[in-house]
Amino acid sequence: MTTAAAPTTEQFEKIPTKIHPTAAAAAAALAREVADLIRERNAAGRATVLGLATGSTPVPFYRELIRLHREEGLSFANVITFNLDEYHGLARDHRESYFRFMREQLFDHVDLKPGSIHLPDGTVALDKVFAHCQAYEAAIDAAGGIDLQILGIGRTGHIGFNEPGSTRDSRTRLIALDRITREDAAADFLGEANVPRFAITMGVGTILRARRIALMAWGENKAEIVRQAVEGPETEAVSASFLQSHPDARFLVDAAAAKALTRVKLPWLVTHVDWDEAGTRRAVTWLALKHHKPVLKLLDEEYNENGMAELLTRQGRAYDLNIRIFNQLQHTITGWPGGKPDADDTTRPERATPHPKRSLVLAPEPQDDVLSMGATLQRLVEHGHHVEVVYLTSGDLRVADAEASKFAKVLLETSETIATGAAGDAAGAAGDWSRQVAYARDMLAQLEAKGPFGDPPAALRRLKGLIRRGEARDAAQALGLSPEHVRFLDLPFYAKGRYRQFRLEDADIAAVRATLEEIQPHQIFITGHLADPNSVQGVAWRAFAAAWDQCGQAPWKNDCRVWLHRGHQRELEPHEIHMAVPLSPDQLARKLAAIRKFQSPTNPDQLTGERNRQTARTYDALGLAEYEAIEAFERWGA
Ligand code: GLP
Repeated sequence: MTTAAAPTTEQFEKIPTKIHPTAAAAAAALAREVADLIRERNAAGRATVLGLATGSTPVPFYRELIRLHREEGLSFANVITFNLDEYHGLARDHRESYFRFMREQLFDHVDLKPGSIHLPDGTVALDKVFAHCQAYEAAIDAAGGIDLQILGIGRTGHIGFNEPGSTRDSRTRLIALDRITREDAAADFLGEANVPRFAITMGVGTILRARRIALMAWGENKAEIVRQAVEGPETEAVSASFLQSHPDARFLVDAAAAKALTRVKLPWLVTHVDWDEAGTRRAVTWLALKHHKPVLKLLDEEYNENGMAELLTRQGRAYDLNIRIFNQLQHTITGWPGGKPDADDTTRPERATPHPKRSLVLAPEPQDDVLSMGATLQRLVEHGHHVEVVYLTSGDLRVADAEASKFAKVLLETSETIATGAAGDAAGAAGDWSRQVAYARDMLAQLEAKGPFGDPPAALRRLKGLIRRGEARDAAQALGLSPEHVRFLDLPFYAKGRYRQFRLEDADIAAVRATLEEIQPHQIFITGHLADPNSVQGVAWRAFAAAWDQCGQAPWKNDCRVWLHRGHQRELEPHEIHMAVPLSPDQLARKLAAIRKFQSPTNPDQLTGERNRQTARTYDALGLAEYEAIEAFERWGA
């Protein structure tokens, strides 16, 4: 849908918001602004005071600052920094401390003076926290106040760690972390139980005193909270909404994080719209869900009252429009995700030929595939397609220490039993099992030395990777796919990296490209196109997109459809769905059984399957057939 530019498009937005094509472009623009600010203040003989944030969001921004320092001589010698927050209970060298994060992401790579760096101290005893927080505020004042505050936003709408309930004039203090925040940090800490319960954070009032504020947000997961902060009321429930009353605050978002803004989601409410097919479908499904009515029952006046009079004049009566969109939705439903052989495929999402197809499932981490498309995978196998599941990473970072410990202990005990001959004939004769014993002991010692929060050494990561691989094979087998059709690419960005700090390399792209060229698939299933570009899914998508481009004009590409799903946190909205694969209760149960092959779950248990049920309820609400659950896909480029 193309929209004519009009000043009214942003009428619902109470904070100036710039939508950048990519996170990288937005981060580069902001880094340039910081460089200008530093140079300007240096010229005036004054220090620059920056307020800094952690999380994966500012990572591309810090990388760009480092580049400006290295390549364009930007000096931080006259810069003073104050970070927003720190987990309480974590020492500065703790792997997940924000101090360590800042060192790795910025401080160690630029010429900041050690005495110019400030973060709240997570090790301060509880009875000293109040005084520590007051001293932090005083230090900000003594530096002359913050010139530019950089922010991300949590899914609860928090800035810093100002969780729902934080008041507009709150100051630096100790705060209990919200459940959603702890859930989002669970992967970093190898389980929610390990995430600290408290943090010290600058208050909303502290942040609002900064002279200029820039909040960044990337990826679809942030879209709804960005909308609430920018368009909703100022409320303690969303502390970022308080930025509405700041004279110089703004948001920088990528296209995915802008998705829920009125000008993007419901443009007909704010501007003239050239109605195309995709936009029409979006508007009609939105209207139906808004009025709690099936599509076929929408009335002319309901279109008129919701800014869609022009759509009706161009498309005829509501009756005709309703039927047309209803049919489109109907045609997305198929039990044949690889296409139905020998059937008329003019209104089906996939082609009838060739049959069987080469179907390539590219999963960023093991479990991404099963969670989003387990039942579809099962259908593809049942229908005789050549299905290859390629895991781009081993997923070792998700395996809890307890799993590795269990495996090492079983190995130790088994080896010792066999070595003494006590296992009997079945295990063969007693032999030299000393290497196995040594290996198992070494793994246990490494776990012990690392403790719950230490850096996992490479050998331990390999063991965890083996465990995750085994689970992934079991899950695929539970869906009917034999293990020889499951592969692991072990992309270097993941093997060398860790959450929030991944870096895409040419070798990642080359490995994906080699897989595409070898398999020459007729269909590809993948996720990550709307994810935070620094998440595993986001980096995996960038590797795929670059590899796809590098394959150039290869003939197989003309005969290949790319089907996108939304990873494990979200589901597609109805207007985005080009293929809806319905699940019977039995099929859903089989999918859930496959998910349970993984000991360390990606998602909280209660969410598993719920998304698929919700999509089915949405289809039902639109007046389509009532299914138990639906797995949904969008066709790339459609
Ligand atoms: C944490 C930090 C916030 C950050 C948020 C979002 O809660 N305290 O400052 O904005 O995470 O993190 P991410 O950027 O990784 O999405």
